[in-house]
Formats: sequence, structure tokens, C-alpha cells
Amino acid sequence: MADVNALNRDFTQYDQVEKSHTYRLAEHPSDTFDEEYEIATLDFDQFLNGNAKDRSKFVEEFGTAVQDIGFSILTGHGIDTSLYDEIHDLVIELFESLSLEEKMRFRAKRQGSVNQGYFPIEETSSIHPDQVEGWVWCRRAFDMPQDRDTEFRIEDFWPDSKYEQSLRRLTTAHEQLFIPIAQAMFQSLGCNPHVYDEKLTKTNFGLRLNYYPPLDDEQVRSGAGRLLGHEDVDLFTLVPAPRDEGLQVWNHRNNSWVRLNAPQGSLIINTGDYMQRITNDRLPSTTHRVALSEDGSHSSVPRVTFPIAVYVWEDEHLEVLPGLGEAKYEPIKAITFHTRSTSKFYGDDYAVKS
Ligand SMILES: [Fe+2]
Repeated sequence: MADVNALNRDFTQYDQVEKSHTYRLAEHPSDTFDEEYEIATLDFDQFLNGNAKDRSKFVEEFGTAVQDIGFSILTGHGIDTSLYDEIHDLVIELFESLSLEEKMRFRAKRQGSVNQGYFPIEETSSIHPDQVEGWVWCRRAFDMPQDRDTEFRIEDFWPDSKYEQSLRRLTTAHEQLFIPIAQAMFQSLGCNPHVYDEKLTKTNFGLRLNYYPPLDDEQVRSGAGRLLGHEDVDLFTLVPAPRDEGLQVWNHRNNSWVRLNAPQGSLIINTGDYMQRITNDRLPSTTHRVALSEDGSHSSVPRVTFPIAVYVWEDEHLEVLPGLGEAKYEPIKAITFHTRSTSKFYGDDYAVKS
């Protein structure tokens, strides 16, 4: 495992899109911060229910935000935010009520592209000792519409069926937003907004629960931080605004970090590697990490997040969209792209050759 001073440049052989910047995986006293940059907060209801003028205004502002920094914050997304409160409590219950032995029964292993299951503390990746426990499920773990070639059994994926039921409500609610978000992104680039409508119908995703336990002084002094700097491997990610501080976003324009604190009930959206690849680098896969809070809450309360990463199924191909200039990238099968990228975190054996 690399030490806490590791740089992203130590792992560039895994990148499947161009990433030319250099950053430390964990926070460091030499980091610089951009206190001026404000990540755009936009009303998604303008796009979902507005007239033509509202929609084009949203598309322009959303496109500017995503091209500029790869992040935007959406209000007006239509999801009942009491669901977010319910899931927050459920995440704490899941991680705190089960013994390590019970959790380890579901230890993460590859399912298609996705490394699905439980990740113990300091084992979210094999390259950095992050102070977080995680749990990931892809669509296969849910009783949701999909083509299956094997029998679905709740007990194969879940310590208790109540977790599947509650988290299915969360993923089903978010799934309604996958296609509209993609349409707004593609429209902002002048592409056919519907180009991924079919691929994103009943598509695969990765729901990840993150439980960042309160840190003692020794853990703080270790410099490991809570979640290493990384880019998401997906098309885009939806993150209900966390209650606690810590999310930092890389600003490519001035090589500094922006602290992102989104309003409660809002939804943070960021683009990932799949999207950078198919948009020929027009939408960046933006680096982000979770660091210590400024208000000291990392010493007293657990931090909880539940991002959902939007993928296409493994046998789809990722190909630069028409109208975006000469393609910098060859078409590539999604599982090859995905597992080559994430073998950075899970070891060289994780990459699927095909
Ligand atoms: Fe991420």
C-alpha cells in the first residue's frame, strides 16, 4: 500500500482518459484552497417541468458548471427529502449494529464491472488507508426490473431484507433522474439529448454507503484522511448533500481545492470517466476527496454519505459522441474500460481482458 503522501501520478498507468494534473491523495499542509469559487446551485425543476425557455436556461447554466468544474448542485429535483433523513439513520444503523464478522460475510467482490459488497475501514482501496467503511450494491442486488440469468436471492446480498427495501426506494427515486440529467448534459454540448436514453433505461449503477467513523487524535495525526482524492469511473454521480463537511473538489483552472458544502436536501452531481471519454474530454472527470472538517465534527460524529454512480451495462461500448470533433479515444467495451480504471484501487487482477 502506498503511504499517505502518495500522488495521483504514481498510478497514471490505470487512467483510461487524459488526466494531466498532479495532486496528493490525502490532504496536506502544502495544499492550496480556492475560497472564491462557488459551485453552481441550480433548480432542476426548470428542466423537468419548465417551458422551453426555462429548459434552455437550465441547460446553459448546468453545462457551464459541469464543463467548468465537473460539479453542480441541484435543488428542485422532486425527491422527497425526508427519504434522505431516513437513509442517513439507516446507514448508521447498518454499520453500527452489525459485528465486523457479520459485515465480512458480504466482503466486496467483482460483480460484472462493480466491486460489490462491504469494504472494511482502511480497505476501500489497496492504495491508500482511508478512514471510511463502505458498502456497495449494483442493480443486480436489488429486486428491480432487469434481465437476470440467475435466481435472485435477497440473502446473497443483504444482511436483512429491510435494507434492500429502503435502499430500493432511494435508488428507484434517483433512477427517475438518470435520463433527464444525461439529456441536459448532452444538450449543453449540442449533441442529441436522447443519445443515451435507451442505454440508461434499466441501466446498471453502484450505490455506495459511506460511514466515516469519528476519528481519534492518532487517526487525525496519521494524515490518512477520510477518502483519497479520486475521479469517479462512471457517467455521473448523484450525491444527496451530506450533513457534515469534508467534501473537496479540484479546480483545474488554478490547481487548488474548493470546499463544497451543499444545502440540505439538494443533490450534488458530478461527472466521471465514462462521461469524459464519450464527450471527448469536453466534460471533465473531476477529482474530489473527503478531508477533515473545518468545524471539528470529524472528532465527534460519524459522517454519512450515499452516492449513486450511474453506469452502462458491461457489454455496451463507450464511444465518442458525434459532433464533438476528432475522437481522441477509440471505442471500448464498458467492462474493459471500467475494470482497467478501477484496478488502480483493487489490484491488477481486477481488470477484465476483452
Ligand atoms: Fe467519488
